[in-house]
Amino acid sequence: MTLETGTRLAGKRAAIIGAGSVGDGWGNGKATAVLFARQGAKVLCVDRNEEAAAKTAEVIRSEGGSAEVLATEVTDPQSGSAVLDRMETLWGGLDILDYNVGISQQGGVFDTTDEDWERVFEINLTGAMRMSRAILPAMRAQGSGSLIYVSSVAAVYSGPYSYASYEVSKMALVRLAKSVARENAAYQVRANALLPGVIDTPHVSAFVDSKTAPKELAAKRAATVPMGRQGTAWDIANAALFLASDEAAYVSGVELRVDGALTA
Ligand SMILES: NC(=O)c1ccc[n+]([C@@H]2O[C@H](COP(=O)([O-])OP(=O)(O)OC[C@H]3O[C@@H](n4cnc5c(N)ncnc54)[C@H](O)[C@@H]3O)[C@@H](O)[C@H]2O)c1
Repeated sequence: MTLETGTRLAGKRAAIIGAGSVGDGWGNGKATAVLFARQGAKVLCVDRNEEAAAKTAEVIRSEGGSAEVLATEVTDPQSGSAVLDRMETLWGGLDILDYNVGISQQGGVFDTTDEDWERVFEINLTGAMRMSRAILPAMRAQGSGSLIYVSSVAAVYSGPYSYASYEVSKMALVRLAKSVARENAAYQVRANALLPGVIDTPHVSAFVDSKTAPKELAAKRAATVPMGRQGTAWDIANAALFLASDEAAYVSGVELRVDGALTA
C-alpha cells in the first residue's frame, strides 16, 4: 500500500467509475480513488454496488479526504448524465474521469454466447463511450480534463486463458481512448488507456479463477511475469495518478502498460 500524500491533484475533481472492490482488499478502482484523494482530489466513488463504493469513500474520509458516493449501473443509458449532474452539484464540474469498470468472461469464440458477448461489451466498452459522451462537453467548455480508460494487457497479449469477449472489448477500449484523445485535443482534454498486467486484486480469485486455491493461483500468476511477481492495485493507481495529473499535460492517446515487462 502507498501512504504517500501530496498535492499532485490539488483542486481537482475526479469521478472513479468502479470505485468499489468485489472483495476485501484493494481493487484497482478503490486504490485509485484513495490515492487520488491523498493527492488532494475530491473524489466521487461511482459503483453499482453502493456498499462497496461507500467503503472506499469511508477510507478517504477517515484519512481527512473528500469523497461522495453515487450508485449507478453503467449499462443504464442515464449513467453518464447522472455522474455529470452529481459532479456539477457537488463541486461545479469535473477534471478527471477514470473508467475502471470491467468484467471478464472466460471462453473462446466457440464458448461465448451472444448474450455473454453483449453483456461484456455493454459494460467494458459501451458504458465508457456513454460516460465520455456525457462529460466531454463540460471538459471542453473548461478547456481541460483527463480521461483514463482502464483496459488490460489482454487487449494486446494472449495469456493462458481464452477470454474472447474480454480481450476484444478491452482492445476496443484502447481505440476509444485514442479516438477521444484526437477529437478533444484542441480543447486540451486528454484521454489515455491504462493496461494492467497480472494484478493481485480480489477480482482475480472471485472471477478469473475461483477453482484454484488463492495461494496457488497467486504463485501461478506471478510465475508468468518476467519480474516474477504480480502487480498490486497501487501500481495501477500510481500510473493513473500520473495520467490524471498535470505532469502528463502533453500525454494523450497513449496505451500505458503496467505489467512488469509481461508484454515487452
Ligand atoms: N485484476 C487484474 O489482474 C486486472 C488485469 C487487467 C485489467 N484489469 C481491469 O482493471 C479494472 C478493475 O479491476 P478490479 O480488479 O479493481 O475490479 P473489481 O472487479 O474489483 O471491480 C471494481 C468495481 O466495479 C464495479 N462494477 C462492476 N460492474 C459494474 C457496472 N456494470 N456498473 C457499475 N459498477 C460496476 C464492481 O461493483 C466493483 O466494485 C477492470 O476494468 C479490469 O478489467 C484488472
